[in-house]
Amino acid sequence: MSGEANGRQGSPGDYLLETKNLKMHFPIKAGVLRRTVGHVKAVDGVNMQIRRGETLGLVGESGCGKSTLARLILRLLEPTEGEVIFEGENILGYDRKQMLRVRRNMQIVFQDPYASLNPRMTVGGIVGEPLKTHKIEGNRKKRVQELLEVVGLSPEHYNRYPHEFSGGQRQRIGVARAIALNPKLIICDEPVSALDVSIQAQVINLLQDLQRDFDLTYVFIAHDLSVVKHISDRVAVMYLGKIVEIADRRRLYGEPRHPYTVSLLSAIPFPDPEKERQRRRIVLAGDVPSPANPPQGCSFHTRCPRAQEYCVEHEPGLIPQDGRPDGEADGEADDAASAHRAACYFPVEGGQPIEEPAATTPYRAGEST
Ligand SMILES: Nc1ncnc2c1ncn2[C@@H]1O[C@H](COP(=O)(O)OP(=O)(O)O)[C@@H](O)[C@H]1O
Ligand code: SF4
Ligand SMILES: [Mg+2]
Repeated sequence: MSGEANGRQGSPGDYLLETKNLKMHFPIKAGVLRRTVGHVKAVDGVNMQIRRGETLGLVGESGCGKSTLARLILRLLEPTEGEVIFEGENILGYDRKQMLRVRRNMQIVFQDPYASLNPRMTVGGIVGEPLKTHKIEGNRKKRVQELLEVVGLSPEHYNRYPHEFSGGQRQRIGVARAIALNPKLIICDEPVSALDVSIQAQVINLLQDLQRDFDLTYVFIAHDLSVVKHISDRVAVMYLGKIVEIADRRRLYGEPRHPYTVSLLSAIPFPDPEKERQRRRIVLAGDVPSPANPPQGCSFHTRCPRAQEYCVEHEPGLIPQDGRPDGEADGEADDAASAHRAACYFPVEGGQPIEEPAATTPYRAGEST
């Protein structure tokens, strides 16, 4: 659901969530004394702002730090450095009681609907668990049955077990659980990566419907740019623990600047056969370097087709790409979150208009997935 279209963007600076210089460096221990011999820089200085009601797509290859970033935001991990600001307050200093309040408003949907649901609990128990933890009064069973209907399952599924459901249905159970407490933010950590393509679209449609009905804000994580194209208002591309490009959807897909974004985009097939014949895939040399030992200078230089000597010595920050000083993007949403920024000294120029999505099949309650 587009934040621009639904008018729920709020005023500039009215962010639901912000991270400031967020870092997670996991210690690497070795030897009998378990000495720290180095660090895995899983998240390495992430600054981002998320507006109320929008969807931020977060994309990058496996191991680039997406799930770690999600866990830092939810405070399932304590960061090495930085701030997580939710509704204007840094939650890192919060005590247990304060965190319990924040947790009602921040939920997560995991990638693997097979592993993330307790196989020994009934669907009713799984979806109702947050209501129990947060001591929500009232008829819990009725509420859970309502939630099952909202996500397109049946109230009769209450006493069944996860193994009795298909992958898509299990993900619906995970979604019902995530919305049980009426949260403000849901982090969807590759929620459709384990599902068949046809079922992916149904789950994404469900998430979009829920966003509209319940005023949700999403961080939607995926490992490729095609999955987040239609659901995102803005997209951030991560590489080795850092955001390397961030822009609104049209700019990111239509005028990508960072060579890494360009290579990720070149992997997406075009629906039009003529265009598809002309598509030139940019295959990057080598593997992603280890986050325990990231390259000096621009961390992408070892794989970058545009790398110059300068890039080996110097590390680019996120440089504004719209010809205006950072944070001075024009239009209605005149704030830091609007700027198109890329961490590159020699950005790619020129672009093409993005292809609008073919109409998606509307989601219908009760549809079997
Ligand atoms: N608890 C941990 N201890 C040490 N290293 C970790 C831990 N969790 C994740 N990592 C490492 O951090 C990096 C980022 O992992 P992750 O956030 O899971 O990436 P992604 O979700 O993008 O695939 C990887 O190199 C991973 O091995
Ligand atoms: S700064 Fe240099 S190495 Fe890094 S992405 Fe840009 S051109 Fe490539
Ligand atoms: Mg992950």
